[in-house]
Amino acid sequence: MINVAVLGYGTVGSGVAKILWENHSHVCRRAGEEINLKYVLDLREFPGDPVEKVLVHDFDTIVNDPEIRVIAEAMGGLEPAYTFAKRALEKGISFCTSNKVLVEAKGAELIGIAKEHNANFFFEASVGGGIPVIRPMIECLTADHFDEISGILNGTTNYMLTRMDQEGVAYDEVLAEAQKLGYAERNPEADVEGHDAGRKIAILASLAYEKQVSFEDISMEGITKITGTDFEYARALGMSIKLLGTARKKDGKVYVIVAPFMVAPGDPLYAVNGVYNAIKLHGDMLENVMFYGQGAGKEATASAVVSDIQDCVRRLGSHREILWSGEKAELGDIAEFPFRFLVRVKTKGADAASTDGPFAAAANAVKQAVDTSKSLAEFEAAVGAKPMEALKSADGETAVLTGPITEKKLTEAIASTGVDVIGRIRLA
Ligand code: HSE
Repeated sequence: MINVAVLGYGTVGSGVAKILWENHSHVCRRAGEEINLKYVLDLREFPGDPVEKVLVHDFDTIVNDPEIRVIAEAMGGLEPAYTFAKRALEKGISFCTSNKVLVEAKGAELIGIAKEHNANFFFEASVGGGIPVIRPMIECLTADHFDEISGILNGTTNYMLTRMDQEGVAYDEVLAEAQKLGYAERNPEADVEGHDAGRKIAILASLAYEKQVSFEDISMEGITKITGTDFEYARALGMSIKLLGTARKKDGKVYVIVAPFMVAPGDPLYAVNGVYNAIKLHGDMLENVMFYGQGAGKEATASAVVSDIQDCVRRLGSHREILWSGEKAELGDIAEFPFRFLVRVKTKGADAASTDGPFAAAANAVKQAVDTSKSLAEFEAAVGAKPMEALKSADGETAVLTGPITEKKLTEAIASTGVDVIGRIRLA
């Protein structure tokens, strides 16, 4: 019999306990061993809950028990998870986690400690919740170089963008709705500013390129500025808008960004709606492969944690190599990576109002409109674009679809032509 412990009895931790109890015989048969949940660590009490029989409040009880062979952590946050992981691995206890903050910051180091002590550090649930993507990357897709990883990695924002697109619900309303449904955190910043997706793409890129890609080095744009008008343009193009985390390799450098992208129907990520997540990998031999499923939620995420526990049990006494060194990957400046952009440009001289006399404002507006169309034509030429006919002139603005251009050149073209830009979104 193999004794295991779970750290944290919140959403994911209680899901892990539930699966270990409810699917007990199935889980054990698949692991090839009887698995006993000996301890659950949480500071709180849970009167009347089955966890009471195994609940402890002190990590030392767990780590000092020589019977414990595997620990699963679902507390979240860097500390004390990091200290607990280190202490467990240094004792040769395998450690699995759903904690993306821990994995992104300390993954390489903890894999190294696991190796030294002939144990394992697994983290399938840290990206894409219940979707198997890490194990396929390190065990199945080992023949290919990954030239691109692109994913819808955050269920909350995908739910919000889907509602905005399909039902025309405004941003503030859909955020309140997501919070009410329990998808968004009370402080929704990590979701809507792209930080959650940023940590996940950092983990995937680190695994793909075998070196540290750090969250703080990634360019991140959230969805807070996306409006109904952006969706009108997307629809006119037959596209949808998704918050993507993407890592692309070009000329030996890795370019990583989290941002809203216009996604075309031919892209398998186009049809990923609601709280679902998907991760698309492009290998140099395999080409596209996509993993799709629930990226969050109690049972879905816990299912991935339990599969890690089973894998740790199967591999007791041996270390499964995961190539992820702590050395920093050479990241390219995302402003120098070419994308196509949809650029929204003002076409009316609303800002041109003058205080010089009763007719000056009107005269100024006419002058501004003439200047605007001249600079717009210059801008279109500079960015290799044609204006989008479908929504041209909508509400004093137009949209320009650029050819492939770096953000650096786009910014130069905006400055040199003087166009008044409302916003821009990349095409996937
Ligand atoms: N807030 C995250 C999401 C939870 O919405 O996807 C899983 O990391």
